[in-house]
Amino acid sequence: MRSLFVFFAILLAHSEARLQLSRQSYMKLPYQFTNGDPTNPRYGLFQNAAHKAAFHTVDKILYVASARSTEKYLHIIDMNNPASPSILMTHVFDNAVDGMITSVKACTDTIAVTLTAADPVAEGHIELFTPYNRADRVFTRVGRIAVGVHPKDMAATSDCTRLVVANEGPVAINPVSGTLSDPEGSVTIIVRNDQGFPVEINMGFQQLNDRVVDYITNGVRYVFRGDHGVGIVNTFSQDLEPESVTISNDDRFAFVSCQENNAVLKIDLFNQRIIELYALGAKNWTSYNLDASDQNDAANLRFHTVYSFYQPGKLAYGVVDGKGYLVSADTGKAKTLTTAQHGYAFSDNTRARVAYNDGELDITTMDPTLLSQIQDNQQLGRVHMSRVDGYNIFNRIGDVFLFGGRGISLWDSTTMAHVFDSGDDLERRASQFYPNTFNGDCSNGNQSPTQQVDERSDDMGPEPQALATGTVGTTPVLIVGSRNGLIYVFNMRGVSANFESVHREGSTNDIWNNLYANDAAGDQMISDIGFVGAGDSPSGTPFVYVIGQATGSLSVYNVVDMPDIF
Ligand SMILES: *[C@@H]1O[C@H](CO)[C@@H](O)[C@H](O)[C@H]1NC(C)=O
Repeated sequence: MRSLFVFFAILLAHSEARLQLSRQSYMKLPYQFTNGDPTNPRYGLFQNAAHKAAFHTVDKILYVASARSTEKYLHIIDMNNPASPSILMTHVFDNAVDGMITSVKACTDTIAVTLTAADPVAEGHIELFTPYNRADRVFTRVGRIAVGVHPKDMAATSDCTRLVVANEGPVAINPVSGTLSDPEGSVTIIVRNDQGFPVEINMGFQQLNDRVVDYITNGVRYVFRGDHGVGIVNTFSQDLEPESVTISNDDRFAFVSCQENNAVLKIDLFNQRIIELYALGAKNWTSYNLDASDQNDAANLRFHTVYSFYQPGKLAYGVVDGKGYLVSADTGKAKTLTTAQHGYAFSDNTRARVAYNDGELDITTMDPTLLSQIQDNQQLGRVHMSRVDGYNIFNRIGDVFLFGGRGISLWDSTTMAHVFDSGDDLERRASQFYPNTFNGDCSNGNQSPTQQVDERSDDMGPEPQALATGTVGTTPVLIVGSRNGLIYVFNMRGVSANFESVHREGSTNDIWNNLYANDAAGDQMISDIGFVGAGDSPSGTPFVYVIGQATGSLSVYNVVDMPDIF
């Protein structure tokens, strides 16, 4: 007995411990209550029942918002036992001028929710509430403040004295004129004083138009410039589309990702001014693997001499060895406007083989190997590439640029230098641990996850779109969620993100509709992740909550240090 114990002790000492996720609970959220009756919930796949969430650390309550224009729900969920969360109340936003909820933040004494306007070119709003009162079972609104057009994301300083809202201002049809309109992107800073949050600073980007040539030279994408022949002029500041915002841990700076533009704005929160707009540059895939074809029905990682834009869909802030870094989920985003939806047809992307067939590529200067891969649908033929970037002096495309970095990056938050890139780690780990669902989609309820394998490879591959940073013991960690339901755990020892584990929730052996009905569809189209440290966790064990937008689901996982003995 004793020798057996010693044997195990030696085994443990010699094997690596890994940070892994241990499932605590899984719940689907209702997207509708029949006739408004809370005892009559309706559930459904692809109903956007859940999108964003925020955890109130003192009250142990999770606020989960839907992304629906008809039922704008904020579910107030008891997390005293993360192994069995339950809905305490659902707050319904019923102001007809509002579009949908886009983000939620929980401060000690305030819950903030951003709402777009139903009118796509009108100002959105932020609503402020006192946190849910368990004793009285009330959730009381204390304020409603106009922000910019289409608020998309929000961040709060650590003391919650400032809220920063990124207003996307995307292209839409102006309902009055019936023509294309690209509202100005902007950032709203709301400053608290004794009366609440009345002081508001709206920061437009028009001042950046004077330096547009510099920005383009540095690599900022000015994607849709209008069509001057038909009188559509779209300025640089209109084309800047803020997507995600995060704040440095010293509360001095806000960072705003302009996703399509492949750029990050750094804002001084004390002096309320734009410090700079930084181009993020392009990733050189020459020494990394990727799968750029949706026609292999499996992982097919190859080398291609192509480039891609980082285009973060989500930013976070992390501290490693006392120094702050901006962390980005390099999702990718192409821009396509249609006459029906936007009043004008425009696309910044095309499949590589189509670009070749249309004579857009410089076949005299391009590498012959690359050209043959572009003509092969098993390789680069199907991939979506930019048709507005990569032009050479002969006015032909000489370099192939794809959308999205298919990974995560660390940026020095002082200089914005790119200090770490996860390379092809996300796709390689996915192909190794979950080959059956590699780069898969969740879009067809009558197909199974394995039938939808590889369908996103020609788009943006793993598409990381949710991030959370935290600490387990003394180890700084980064949790990354991908569109197709993988949750990666990295440690951030040194200025890098080192792979610990990857988890996929749910089954694969039935069609999505059946998996959903049986609570076995997992976390599909992960749209938000939060990390709750040991000190704030009711059980004393750090956990993450994961929101799946396609599955309208909330999952909770403990983050545990498990010996990797098998
Ligand atoms: C991309 O990397 C390859 C291999 O290191 C190199 O030859 C090439 O010059 C790089 N491209 C650019 C634009 O730096």
